[in-house]
Order: sequence, then structure tokens, then C-alpha cells
Amino acid sequence: MPKDLCVKAERMVGEPVRRTLLRLGLFDRSRRIKTTDDSVLIPISRRPKPEERAALKKMGSIKVVSADLLVASARPKDLTGVLDGKLPPYLLAQLPRSYDVVGDIVVLESLSTDLFPHKAEIGAALMALHPGVKTVLLKTGKVEGEFRVPRLEVLAGRERFDTVHTEYGMRFKVDLSKVYFSPRLGSERYRVASSVSDGETVVDMFAGVGPFSLMIAKHVKAKVYSVDLNPDAIELLKENIRLNKLRGEVIPLCGDAREFSKQLTGVADRVIMNLPASSLSFLDTASEILKSGGGMIHLYIFAPDEPLINAENFTEVADKLFKCLEIRGMRVVKPVAPKEWQVALDVWASK
Ligand SMILES: C[S@@+](CC[C@H](N)C(=O)[O-])C[C@H]1O[C@@H](n2cnc3c(N)ncnc32)[C@H](O)[C@@H]1O
Repeated sequence: MPKDLCVKAERMVGEPVRRTLLRLGLFDRSRRIKTTDDSVLIPISRRPKPEERAALKKMGSIKVVSADLLVASARPKDLTGVLDGKLPPYLLAQLPRSYDVVGDIVVLESLSTDLFPHKAEIGAALMALHPGVKTVLLKTGKVEGEFRVPRLEVLAGRERFDTVHTEYGMRFKVDLSKVYFSPRLGSERYRVASSVSDGETVVDMFAGVGPFSLMIAKHVKAKVYSVDLNPDAIELLKENIRLNKLRGEVIPLCGDAREFSKQLTGVADRVIMNLPASSLSFLDTASEILKSGGGMIHLYIFAPDEPLINAENFTEVADKLFKCLEIRGMRVVKPVAPKEWQVALDVWASK
């Protein structure tokens, strides 16, 4: 005699019926849904009341039947859940709580030395947790050098570093072994892009593969000059221009942002300076690039301890360069190390 109570519905309406059962508090999560060619059996925890049955009937022919359904296995929701029972509790406590997913690649920021002997298990666990992921990478050193590229080790999956990352409906091709890219800046890029108006000229001084530039050009008819020192970043930026439907124009320029200051003197309504390790030393270049009447600077810096207070140190440098300076916004974008944060400043500046 079948023992599990369920609702039998046409397969076509399976999902709306499931959602309705969920809303009515009838859906039984302890059993698995069974699908046949033309119908679906959805487990329920009790018989529906007449008014509930009436609500379900609106979606087509519905029957309450008994069937034998499989027990739903509780799928682990995080890394600790996957490795529970495989690693001792003191190691489970050291597992990373967060990591980046860039396209189909997972990137771990770091691992404690205790976890080093378990790198392969951790990699495999992350692949199990994210079925779409093909590679798991571990950063093995700080993001360094002019190109801001980290050293990476493959923990699991195919040895590859290139992928296409999707963000707010945009596609960015990246090669994590050759260029800088952080998915954690997605909402920051969207926020900046949303503040740009049609007709503006923007200079993205440290553009990388172009996520800021492209996000802006997708939203508005702006002209964006995108400068980067790293030739690989500029090649990927050119591909990303082709990959995305843009309203505005993105002009890739490969080289040192300082060297383009002559070519770009006085053109910009807005300058983006996402090179937090040394952006302050490029403020003089930004002042040359901005229009004579002034403009917005989106400046990114690293700040310790009390990030929003320490970020104001920027005025020491900026006061010497600009006559008029107004900080219109200041946010912590992401933590970068213990007691160190990346901070964004939106500054109106004129000479
Ligand atoms: C932190 S990354 C930011 C990239 C991009 N804006 C993003 O959000 O993904 C900084 C970029 O600045 C570039 N860079 C470093 N020094 C530079 C310079 N002097 N002129 C132009 N680009 C530079 C690096 O190659 C790197 O791609």
C-alpha cells in the first residue's frame, strides 16, 4: 500500500502547483517530487482543505493520491556541510566562509596552513557544491605587480584560467592568470554606471578587461576612454566590446595612464581610478584629464582600521591639486585583508 500523500498534476503545471503548495504550507520537503511522462507527483504534508483544493484546481486537473516517493536527501549548503565527517571539527572551523565565483571558476582567497594537506578535498568539495564549476583555484600570493595579477594554483578540475563572467546581464571574458578581475565589485560598477548621463565623456584610467567602462557604455550613450598598461587586459577588453551590446562607445588605449594625459587633456566629465594601491599618485593626471569646469572622480583606495575616517587622508593630496573639492560619497567596497578595506570615494573636483 503506497504511503506518501501527494498531489498529482499535469507535468506542464508542475512548477506553479509546487509553488502554490509551498505557499499554502502543504509542500512536504522530506520527500522527492516524482515526474512521469505527462504528470508530476508532489509530496504534501496533509490533505488540502476544500478552499486549498479549489485554489489548486485553478491550475488544471489535480488529484490527491498516495504513492511511494523517495526520501529527499538534505543537500549540503556550504563547504562545511560537504566536508562534515571528512575533516575533524577543528579543520572544519578553519574552512573559508567565502570565495569568488568568476564564470565557471571558483577562486579561493587563501587557506590556513592546517588545511594545506586537504587542498584536493576542498577543491573537490567546491566542485560538488557548484555543479557548473569546472575549475577551483587558490590564490597563493598577494595581488602584486603593476598588472595586479595574483599567483594561482589549481586545486581541482581542468587547468585553465579563462572564463566568461556574467554580471548584470553583461559578459566579461577574463583570464585570471593574466589580468585582474574581481566579481565583488559588480554592484559598485553598476552604481557608478547608473550615475553617468548620456553624452558624457568618461576616462577609465585603469580599465582592466573593461568592466566599469562596458557597464557604463551599456547603460548610456557615453564615450569611454579605457586605459590599461596590461596588453592582455586590453586584448580581452576588445573582445568584451564585441561580446556586449553597447549604447555608448568604448575606446581601448594600451599604455601608462600618465602617458595618455596629453592626448586626453580636458576631455573628461568623469574619471574612474580603480588602482587602490597607488591611485592617489595618479590624481595629478586625473586633474589634467578632467574638463576645465570640473567633473567627478570615482577614486578607489585601501584604508586601514577605521576605513571611512582614514579615507579622508586623500584630501591632503587632493587639496594641492584642486581649487574646489567636494566628497559626495564614500563607501567600503570590500575587505582586502584583516583590518584593511577597499574604499570608494565619489569626489566632485575642479581646478
Ligand atoms: C585593480 S585593477 C582594476 C581593473 C578594472 N578597473 C576592474 O575593475 O576590473 C588595476 C588595473 O590597472 C592597470 N594599471 C596599473 N598601472 C597602470 C598605469 N600606470 N596605467 C594604466 N593602467 C595601469 C593594471 O594593469 C590593472 O589592470
